[in-house]
Amino acid sequence: MAGNLKGRHFLRLLDFTPGEVRDLLELSATLKRNKRAGVSGRALEGKNIALIFEKPSTRTRCAFTVAAVDEGAHAEYLGKGDIQLGKKETVADTARVLGRMFDGIQYRGFAHRTVEILAEYAGVPVWNGLTDEWHPTQVLADLLTVMEEFGRLEGLALAYVGDGRNNMANSLMVGCAKVGMDVRIVAPANLHPAPELVETAREIAAGTGGKVTVTDSVEEGVRGAHAVYTDVWASMGEESKIEERIALLEPYRVTEAMMEATGRREAIFLHCLPSFHNLETELSQRYPKIREVEDAVFEGPRSRVFDEAENRVHTIKAVMVATLGR
Ligand code: CP
Repeated sequence: MAGNLKGRHFLRLLDFTPGEVRDLLELSATLKRNKRAGVSGRALEGKNIALIFEKPSTRTRCAFTVAAVDEGAHAEYLGKGDIQLGKKETVADTARVLGRMFDGIQYRGFAHRTVEILAEYAGVPVWNGLTDEWHPTQVLADLLTVMEEFGRLEGLALAYVGDGRNNMANSLMVGCAKVGMDVRIVAPANLHPAPELVETAREIAAGTGGKVTVTDSVEEGVRGAHAVYTDVWASMGEESKIEERIALLEPYRVTEAMMEATGRREAIFLHCLPSFHNLETELSQRYPKIREVEDAVFEGPRSRVFDEAENRVHTIKAVMVATLGR
């Protein structure tokens, strides 16, 4: 059970073997069963965990906090205005200070290099809660959700539809390749992922029986898909690009017709959240076309988005227990 991960950082799924990713998913499933059965763990008893957030978060923050408390740890939230990180103190210095006080550190922010520096200097496990390039804890939750739905991962097809250059597209491409899935990135040509990363994901897939496709054709991309996945069209910090993204991505909105085009009655809809699916948010009232998914799909019988959100707790708990637990 992922016992060989003690002391490791969790920055990208690229840093983990297919077997290690599987172990983390198995451990997540076990921890979820235990929690449902009312069995509480003490694997992190006495540990102190720092949660650095340079960006807002609902799921990641709450999942780290609940997972830590479930296993007996104390979690301390350090928001953007609370600490000196990179402002009056170098990231390396903050890492060394926090590493003397805390047993593990979560970081959510912008540049991936920041979480790498934290990991280089902290001397304790560092977990990536989202950077501009990667969102590895999210993909573990996505894979657990698919596994629960279909009882397996190998050979299943997942179509990610939308902005193919963001941290979710990168992370899904690598995560799905690691577990032998057929992953399709379905995006307009000027929003395709970096070719070097596609090549790396294809090399991984060659060893796991998976497959990696990048296409601008929705029809080709979703045909036969077991899961259709999307994310918001402009990530945090990209608000100035909203109009431009709407123009590019409207044909990639997930609709009931797109779900039908999978040709699979059992196909599910996934989203990392938060989502624009109706006009009940400030931003969707200002930009009514911003919606990356129709409300009918989001609220419909194929949607598994809240199972996926719950699975953030179980998978993040698995990462902390595997890297830091007794
Ligand atoms: N999916 C996700 O990372 O959600 P939060 O931004 O709420 O943490």
